Amino acid sequence: MNASNVNVAPGNAPGVGATPPDSSNSLLRAVGLTKTFRVGGSLFGAERSVHAVTDVNLEFGAGRTIGIVGESGCGKSTLGRLLLRLLVPTAGRVEFDGVDLATLTPRDLRSARRNMQIVFQDPYASLNPRMKIGRIVGEGLEVHGVATGKEAREQVLALMARVGLGADAYDRYPHEFSGGQRQRVGIARALALSPRFVVADEPVSALDVSIGAQILNLLMELQDERGLAYAFISHDLRVVEHVSHDVAVMYLGRIVELAPAAEIYAGARHPYTQALLSAVPSVEGKDRKQRVILGGDVPSPLDPPKGCAFHPRCAIAVARCRVEEPQLIDDGGHRTACHLVAGDHLSGHGMAGGAEAHLSRPA
Ligand SMILES: Nc1ncnc2c1ncn2[C@@H]1O[C@H](COP(=O)(O)OP(=O)(O)OP(=O)(O)O)[C@@H](O)[C@H]1O
Ligand code: SF4
Ligand SMILES: [Mg+2]
Repeated sequence: MNASNVNVAPGNAPGVGATPPDSSNSLLRAVGLTKTFRVGGSLFGAERSVHAVTDVNLEFGAGRTIGIVGESGCGKSTLGRLLLRLLVPTAGRVEFDGVDLATLTPRDLRSARRNMQIVFQDPYASLNPRMKIGRIVGEGLEVHGVATGKEAREQVLALMARVGLGADAYDRYPHEFSGGQRQRVGIARALALSPRFVVADEPVSALDVSIGAQILNLLMELQDERGLAYAFISHDLRVVEHVSHDVAVMYLGRIVELAPAAEIYAGARHPYTQALLSAVPSVEGKDRKQRVILGGDVPSPLDPPKGCAFHPRCAIAVARCRVEEPQLIDDGGHRTACHLVAGDHLSGHGMAGGAEAHLSRPA
């Protein structure tokens, strides 16, 4: 993650997530990660499958961030929990330092978890209201036998100071703090065991913009200091733009576009990404060329559309889109799952040019 403040657009370097698999540089690697939830199967109806995450391949490198973005219900949180093996995948695997987490004994998995932590969206809900801040932040140290007593207290106070919490917070309760301060507690708790990989699941969505910007800056600074790898989940493309090296756009459980952040914002290729981007007011105040209407709701993951799952909402869908599922094709480190993009955009027939004429303007 670039250390620039979020109100200054950072220059994003080419990212690990969008490069072809290269395990040598990879800290955490998701391979074919899939999660299907079985629901129903009672008096009220037959059992059905929720296709929450399907065939996700990602590589997280030290000091790098992959932003994971998409509408509500597209599988972002499920993917985050799969990456941490808080959920067992239906198919696929997660490798940390080249080791498949599924092969670890429960004891070794607990130990590996020290390296993998999560910061939640809602600092109000994720902190135990009956525990004092010092204990919340230091609990992991004691559970994992890293430090106890005075030593643990010193480590906790140092961490609290680093995230901007005064020593007086140690003996106070979460309800005594504002949302931003509680998120600082959540970050301190996540970092107590010196993890190397952190899933941040909508970490600023519950906060005011200016407070959220402070938290984003803190996360970026911590990344630079500690070489953390982040999976940064957000429904907000503006947030993802400033914190991510690579961006993965999800639709109905699948990654439909994955590329270095700078490429996504300068030249998104998938019609869904383009629609999401067009809904984001330009930070610089410049008008977008076209405003794409993203009509209709996200289809149910209980019964995803055949072919390209985006076809019922896609203004440029062709007959093939209704029957054939597009694969995520890599073109120079920019991956896109769209029949009308793969290969074509290079010859001038891609989304950025010809397709825009078909997209609707707002009423
Ligand atoms: N335990 C579960 N059992 C059944 N279905 C689930 C379960 N957890 C998630 N789902 C379903 O999986 C899909 C993906 O959910 P998920 O929470 O991962 O989406 P999300 O992108 O994080 O959404 P949001 O932006 O609202 O947080 C949704 O349809 C959701 O209802
Ligand atoms: S494959 Fe077809 S329906 Fe899907 S995004 Fe591309 S053009 Fe639209
Ligand atoms: Mg979620």
